[in-house]
Amino acid sequence: ISRIAIATGGGDAPGLNAVIRAVVLSATRLGWECHGIRDGFNGLLAPGQCDGDPVLRLDASAVHGIGHLGGTILGSTSRGNPMRFPVEQPDGSVAEQDLSDELAALCRARGFDALVVVGGDGSMAIADCLRGKGLAVVGVPKTIDNDLDHTIQTFGFDTATGFATACIDRLHTTADSQHRVMVVEVMGRYAGWIALHAGLAAGAHAILLPEIPFDPGLVAAAIARRDAQGRRHAIVVVAEGAQPQGGRRMLVAAAAPGRAERLGGIGAWLEAELAARTGKECRSVVLGHLLRGGSPSACDRVIAARFGAAAVRVLARGEAGVMVTLAEHDIGTVPLAEVAGRTRRVPLDGDTVRTARELGICLGAEA
Ligand code: F6P
Repeated sequence: ISRIAIATGGGDAPGLNAVIRAVVLSATRLGWECHGIRDGFNGLLAPGQCDGDPVLRLDASAVHGIGHLGGTILGSTSRGNPMRFPVEQPDGSVAEQDLSDELAALCRARGFDALVVVGGDGSMAIADCLRGKGLAVVGVPKTIDNDLDHTIQTFGFDTATGFATACIDRLHTTADSQHRVMVVEVMGRYAGWIALHAGLAAGAHAILLPEIPFDPGLVAAAIARRDAQGRRHAIVVVAEGAQPQGGRRMLVAAAAPGRAERLGGIGAWLEAELAARTGKECRSVVLGHLLRGGSPSACDRVIAARFGAAAVRVLARGEAGVMVTLAEHDIGTVPLAEVAGRTRRVPLDGDTVRTARELGICLGAEA
């Protein structure tokens, strides 16, 4: 190997820059030349969309002092999956086309011997597709939601959870003073890792996860029980993907498919529902993209550095077609095909859920 490229795809997560820095520093020490592809793979497929060259040369000085910075110096986008890339047609309409062959050819034309793809389950599917076209690809797992399969943690999760915990700590004091119910909506479309961990850390009274369809009557009853004991405030943490048993009417779903959950969020729905059921004043707050911003925590910087260095180590020993993972005490690898498009949900028989129940936290359904 003499020349590699890095791409960061999907939603950003604190720690992306620390991965880029680790890949560049460890690859440079092996004498390899590093390049960064801008805006996921869009930089190569639609170069007109970025100013200047869509590929950046990354040497040690280019990554100097970026390890503690949020975001990604390469840009990232969830739009423009190369396997379903939006292409303008001669009649002016836009249709999705599979440009993965073109992308593989563009990578070869640039002389890249290997690719490091940093992303979530969607990016791993893209990485696996490129592997199938004969490119040497290593994946690095990234998502604040912590829901990638085969790794016990992804970078970004600790930062997001720490920030959510600090926010909930603050909501306790205002809720307590005003005798209110505060509903806190956090990210987590398919898995409730952030809600569960931040809720447990910050002493929430109810935690609602996508993994457990909840009964709002049980949440209201838990609040009423607290009231009867003279504890007049309550904190309910809800993951954006949590749903009440039987579903709820999504007023904006037709108007804004995809963004419906956020616009007509479960937090606002729950605020109204709990106010009606308990007669208490309720307020909701959506932490949303605040959880993706800011500097990575020390834990995330370390995971990111280990993943970046491991990706280079894997390539150096002649392996490819795998994603690096964090196992109990060590770094491991798993074939890309086993993680592509796969999410890891909170195990309902796991110790953290059990602990929440043992502490009397309402999870919205009987065990
Ligand atoms: O990174 C995953 C995630 O945090 C989800 O929990 C959330 O639904 C999504 O990103 C929102 O991403 P965007 O607004 O960038 O589409």
